[in-house]
Amino acid sequence: MSASRDRILELFRQAPDQFVSGEEICRLLGVSRTAIWKQIGQLRELGYCVEAVRSRGYRLLSPPDRLLPAEVTSGLETRRIGREVVYFEITDSTNAQARRLAEDGAAEGTVVIADQQTSGRGRLGRFWLSPPGVNLYLSIILRPTFPPRDATSMTFLSAVAVAHAVAEAGPFVPQLKWPNDLLLDGKKVAGLLNEMNAETEQVHYLVLGIGVNLNMATAQFPSDLRTPATSLLAAGGVEVSRRMFTQNLLRHLDNLYDQYLREGFAPIRAAWEQHCNMIGRQVEVDSPPQRFVGTVYGIDAIGALLVDVPGGGRERVLAGDVRLLS
Ligand code: BTN
Repeated sequence: MSASRDRILELFRQAPDQFVSGEEICRLLGVSRTAIWKQIGQLRELGYCVEAVRSRGYRLLSPPDRLLPAEVTSGLETRRIGREVVYFEITDSTNAQARRLAEDGAAEGTVVIADQQTSGRGRLGRFWLSPPGVNLYLSIILRPTFPPRDATSMTFLSAVAVAHAVAEAGPFVPQLKWPNDLLLDGKKVAGLLNEMNAETEQVHYLVLGIGVNLNMATAQFPSDLRTPATSLLAAGGVEVSRRMFTQNLLRHLDNLYDQYLREGFAPIRAAWEQHCNMIGRQVEVDSPPQRFVGTVYGIDAIGALLVDVPGGGRERVLAGDVRLLS
């Protein structure tokens, strides 16, 4: 996305329903009228309905629900998360892009968003379906000073933030499934993929990858998915604004991250357990080479799943898949 187009969108946002003269745009951006005309053409191609009236200038009639940086940052006012937004119409994976940007020195809180991913990645090398125009694919770069062993907390922090944003988007009751799924009525609506680059004692950067099925139609889901999936549209029957959802999510992430840095993991853990659909229920744990059945007690101070096993004793599960039995 070009910086000029972003600036033009910003000018439209500052003057809702009003004309902005071509002359003013030229002056503020320091570019020619032809260049402005070209940018307006590109905005139209992206779905923006821009009216052009001789001697009055340009006016934005209806913005499409897109996640361009100017749309996402307008009125956001977060402390860290989303101060910088990088956008791709199409990319391989926002996590992969975020890693590249982090290697190049991108700042803490930088958010990478794509309209479409060609190699959206899920946990355990799985594929994340990422069609254009409907969902949210986002990755956040963090540069925490806490040690690598605390990084798993960020998965739970992201999950709680997504749960809050989903609960605000409609009459939804989000359920969290350990370690990184968000479900609606037992169907997966969002997934998290957090990646880390670290040495023994120091985290160089973390990438928090978040995929949320927002306006994907039921017919767009392949019939042979491993886990039953849904979207907010399929579950609630109404389209949600991708822009509003994204801004709400970034605000929750920012607040929770701030709280985590001040108070540690305890409040995040309590919020996560509150939304978890597994506490007190029978599950089958598949954590190779182990496979066993038990009752979920909760999570511990680093996010390991605590499972009470028949005959007494409590297992700590650090990685694997868990399936509800009752
Ligand atoms: C999972 O449930 O297995 C995790 C899915 C994570 C998908 C998101 S979409 C944005 C980011 N980019 C990726 O390639 N993956 C994550």
